[in-house]
Order: sequence, then C-alpha cells, then structure tokens
Amino acid sequence: MEKKYLTKVLNSSEIHQAVDLIKKGEVVAFPTETVYGLGANALDINAIKKIYLAKGRPSDNPLIVHIGKKNDIYALTNITEDKTRKIVSKLILKFWPGPLTLILPKTQKIPSEITGGLDSVAIRMPKNKIALKLITSSGVPIAAPSANISGKPSSTSFKHVFQDFEGKIPAIIKAKSSKIGIESTVLDLTQKNPTILRPGGVSFEEIKEILPNVRLHKNKKTIKVKSPGMKYKHYSPNAKIYLFEFGKEKEFETYVKKFKKEKIKFKIIKTDDKISLSKNLFKEFRESDEKNFDYILIFAVKEEGLGLGLMNRIRKAATKIIR
Ligand code: TXA
Ligand code: MG
Repeated sequence: MEKKYLTKVLNSSEIHQAVDLIKKGEVVAFPTETVYGLGANALDINAIKKIYLAKGRPSDNPLIVHIGKKNDIYALTNITEDKTRKIVSKLILKFWPGPLTLILPKTQKIPSEITGGLDSVAIRMPKNKIALKLITSSGVPIAAPSANISGKPSSTSFKHVFQDFEGKIPAIIKAKSSKIGIESTVLDLTQKNPTILRPGGVSFEEIKEILPNVRLHKNKKTIKVKSPGMKYKHYSPNAKIYLFEFGKEKEFETYVKKFKKEKIKFKIIKTDDKISLSKNLFKEFRESDEKNFDYILIFAVKEEGLGLGLMNRIRKAATKIIR
C-alpha cells in the first residue's frame, strides 16, 4: 500500500483525537496488554475495509471485536443455550478484562466483513487502560487485528507499529511495550467441546479449571480449518530458527562451534523465564531481521502456562527442530 496519510503520533492524553478518528470511520493503532491492535469501528463496513487494506490481510481472515464492558458481549452474540450462557458468564468473570477471546455465534449487528463470512464472531475485552478508554469513549465496538503488516510478527512496541504503518493510517497511540507480548488465547465456544484455536495470554490450565472439557485444537491439515488464521503462513524471520528440545545441549554446542568457525552470524535465546520471553519474542524476531542474523538458536520452554502459546509461535517460525 502507498503512503497516503501524515500519521499522527498520539500520547495517552490525546486519546480523544483517536476517538474522533474512530467515529469518522478511520483506522487507529492502539496498545493492548497482548500486542498492539489496528482498530476501527466494528459496525462500519467501510472502516473495516480500511483495516484489511492497510494490513494487506486476506478478507477471509476474521477480526477480533474489542469491547469496553463485559456485558457488551451479549448484544453482539447469539447465545441460545443456557449451558453456553453459564460458561460465558464464568469465563468473563474470571478472565475479562484480559487476554481471552471468545468465539460465539454472531448477531445481525456484526457485519460479515469482519467475520470473513463466518456466522461466528470473536470478542475480547482488553485490559490495557488506553484501549479501554478508546473503546468506551468511541461508543462502538472496535474491530482490531494485531498491528502488523500481514506476514510480519505482531507489533509489541510503538516502534514496530510505526515501522509497519507510518503513512498508511492516520494515527497511532504511542504507549509502553505490550505487557504480555503474545496474542490472546482464542477459545471457540461454538463446538461440542470448548476448543482453544490459538493458545495465548490465558493458559490452558487456567481455562481447564473452569471448563474441565476444554481441548486444544490440533492444527492438522486433515482437520477442517476452524480458525481461518491457522491456514495462513506464519511469520518467520529471515534468519533460520533452530529449535532445541529439552536435553539437546550437545547438539547445540556442535552447532555453536560450527557457526563460530564459519563466522556465521547467530543469536542464542535460552531462558526459562517465560514471562520475559513472551514479552520479547516478537521483538527478537524483528531485530534479527534488522541485524541480519543468519540463525537464531532457541531452546524449548515447558509447554505449560504461557509456555504453550510461546512454543506454538516458536514451532511455527522454526526451520528445524532438533529433538
Ligand atoms: O491479542 C490479540 O488477540 C490481538 C489484540 C490486538 O487484541 N489481536 C489479534 O488479532 O491477535 P488477529 O487478527 O491477529 O488474530 C485473530 C485470530 C485469527 O487467527 C483469526 O483467524 C481468529 O482470531 N478468528 C477471528 N474470528 C474468528 C472466528 N469467528 N472463528 C475462528 N477464528 C477466528
Ligand atoms: Mg495477527
């Protein structure tokens, strides 16, 4: 997309300017606790089209609708079963505002342009104060994918949003780096058993405490694609990512020796601090491109808590898995 706007950089005391733009049907990038979002009025078809255009996103990949109050979910979704109603109320009591996105049957109010033609809709109430103020002051639900050009990792800092969208949208709200750093957990409540389509900020274990029958969607090619996002190629940096599973230290040493000898530019990511890895993973990916690394050698973390979402992102980006 060509540059078209003189992009305004707004601070947290200038949210009203972003609100005016949303009301006018424009696109604004804003912070959330997971990653930055690229938002527009979810009820305005033309505004929605601008998001897809700016991001270069295929129109069949649906957007998450962000709301400012928990109960707003009921006007946007069509929950017919008491059982589902109870589940929703428990989940939003425990996890909202926060990094959990719920997939439910949509009402007429939701334009099919947001849902990629599906009859379900993804809803989330973010925790970030700026995001909440933007949504409640705009008075409309805000549709927002992650604020990255399609094919790049989600932006977790203002710098990355600016790199991707300067000139392409009228405004960006500048705030701190995202607290969590990977996207929300997407939980599908339209299936027989509640199904996690994308692991993320809320853990499988935490959801299981409330929904003992929750399952993880296995992203096998033979299974009907439930979340359209799953079928698109996931971002991997230009550097080749080698993932070392537990106990593969020897193999790791061999690669390090070889790379040093051949003067290959590589970076090592080894930590068991899942919180900081989550905060920094996408930044590491982007920086490895900026600095032209040839390889990233990364050690697996335990697939529990945030680790499940982290390993999901790392596995998708990996060129080679050493097991
Ligand atoms: O943390 C987040 O979720 C961030 C912040 C900005 O809220 N947003 C985000 O949006 O990651 P996006 O568009 O990058 O990812 C949304 C995912 C996609 O994989 C999409 O396919 C899936 O949710 N999705 C949206 N609506 C869906 C639906 N009705 N059924 C199944 N999957 C859906
Ligand atoms: Mg995304």
